[in-house]
Amino acid sequence: MAESMQGLKRTHRCGELSVANVGETVTIMGWVQKNRNKGGLVFTDVRDRSGIIQVVCEEGTTDAAIIEKAASLRAEYVVAVVGKVEKRSGAVNDKIATGEIEVIPSELRVLSESQTPPFPIEENSKTKEDIRLKYRYLDLRRPDLQRNLRMKSQVMTLTRQFFSDEGFLEVETPMLGKTTPEGARDYLVPSRIHPGSFYGLPQSPQLYKQLLMCSGVDRYIQIARCFRDEDLRADRQPEFTQIDLEMSFIDEDDIMSMAEGFMKTVYKEVLDVEIPTPFPRMPYAEGMERFGSDKPDLRFGYELKNLTEVLKGTEFRVFAGAVSAGGSVRGINVKGGACYTRKEIDKLAEWVKAYGAKGLAWTKLNQDGSSSSSYEKFLKEEEAAGVRSALEAENGDLLFLVASDKPQVVFDTLGALRCECARQMGIIDESRPNLLWITDFPLFEYDEEEGRFVAKHHPFTHPNDEDLEQLETNPGAVRARAYDMVLNGNEVGGGSIRINDPALQQRMFKALGFTQEEAQERFGFLIDAFRYGAPPHGGMAFGLDRLVMLMLGCDSIRDVIAYPKVANSGELMTASPAPVDQKQLDELGISINLQEETKE
Ligand code: AMO
Repeated sequence: MAESMQGLKRTHRCGELSVANVGETVTIMGWVQKNRNKGGLVFTDVRDRSGIIQVVCEEGTTDAAIIEKAASLRAEYVVAVVGKVEKRSGAVNDKIATGEIEVIPSELRVLSESQTPPFPIEENSKTKEDIRLKYRYLDLRRPDLQRNLRMKSQVMTLTRQFFSDEGFLEVETPMLGKTTPEGARDYLVPSRIHPGSFYGLPQSPQLYKQLLMCSGVDRYIQIARCFRDEDLRADRQPEFTQIDLEMSFIDEDDIMSMAEGFMKTVYKEVLDVEIPTPFPRMPYAEGMERFGSDKPDLRFGYELKNLTEVLKGTEFRVFAGAVSAGGSVRGINVKGGACYTRKEIDKLAEWVKAYGAKGLAWTKLNQDGSSSSSYEKFLKEEEAAGVRSALEAENGDLLFLVASDKPQVVFDTLGALRCECARQMGIIDESRPNLLWITDFPLFEYDEEEGRFVAKHHPFTHPNDEDLEQLETNPGAVRARAYDMVLNGNEVGGGSIRINDPALQQRMFKALGFTQEEAQERFGFLIDAFRYGAPPHGGMAFGLDRLVMLMLGCDSIRDVIAYPKVANSGELMTASPAPVDQKQLDELGISINLQEETKE
């Protein structure tokens, strides 16, 4: 039966106790981690968010009623223990920080009982994630998730401190507002007062923060919740948090050095890791050409080599077809990769299909000088030798080639393959963070589905001045004053210098296919604001969850979010989203009309 804690006050958290407290009487409160009854001798491990302390009841020293109560404790009961801290009489446990001491209770209360939990509360749980997420309140008791929450909190505190010291104002922007196109679908919130009208949850505070610059806020920061209805991945959630900033009267260098200073501070304070600044910068085109990616991981080689020239005269249909259709053939050399078995290579050939590649050509150069290949027999001797030489092949290496009429497919496939092979080969140095900037992004990308150019970043990014005259004539060639920060091959932040000239903003909307009326209707307030004195400005946003995930070395962003969503965008503990009452729908003037295939 549950007892009251009345009359008791916690004096210490479990993990705060040490040999310095020996002799003191303390009061601790927490959860029973483990209880071992050895007949007249009961060991109880009590856990709270700071750690674990051992409580020992022994015949002769402890009151018989307390021993009896201690013996009845079960995992996850909530207890209060008043007792004396003593040096352990038994063996010291060097696995826990309090391993040299124990508490001998003079009072023990059960504050709350617990049913047997569906899984043990322990570090590195082997329990399946969907069960853990259903019982997330138990899962979050586990020390690894507690550590993750703690680190995120620390990063948030440091963020506020760092930017406040730099003269930034923290300003809140609306959750219920007009959304900014950031490339994903919006989450919509119906208005009761304006039936048929909707707020959009922010994909980011982009427009509001630019308007704050127009208002003279000068330096803005917000730890901002963002919502994007897009497909989930290991590093993506529909609801996530940005460290969002904007500055006036600055250029790219000012923002980049501010962001570098922030990263340096966070790594030093949280992980005691020094990161050298400034970070290297690499133009987008170079990232693609050498690493097949706009977020290259530079911790290993396996660089892409363009083989199109070497193979341009080939009669081998697969390569010739790609080249004649305006595509390319590129390859990587997985150094020392001859240890891959045929089966493992076949598995990778299946794996790359997700990136659009129709196949994966390979050559394995064994240590003894022999070799096997999926394509060399179809090439002329000098072509095969040309490929080997371009890839600087040596005995022991494994070469992978991808050909496609779509250059992006080749980049995406080899870009992902080099990372996967590096992971499988175990050559990635995880000890130091690898940071760089990617610059000179294209302003637009061509959307095959829509049959038009869309903004690669967002429509408010300033084009490179020297490319401005091509905005209408050759949009694909225009570069943007945009930059992404890349951490260990992940995009951890991104931003740009913005347009602050109403005429240029209108040209931009036009290039994106908006009519003047459409642009005015959607973004009139922004263009109007630019007509009343808009300072030159720019900024960026970090993905807070992603940053903390990478700092912790977690595989999934879900591990740094208290109540994350799963792949179908649902949240398992509360079972959201869920249908609502007819009355609520009626008030909003909404009727549900599910198509057969979208019904659950
Ligand atoms: P962007 O869309 O690049 O820029 O987002 C900035 C950073 O936010 C993180 N991020 C995400 N994290 C988790 N889940 C998601 N679904 C998700 N989407 C993005 C990434 C990314 O680098 N308004 C601009 C910023 C600006 O121009 O100032 C913006 O939102 O780490």
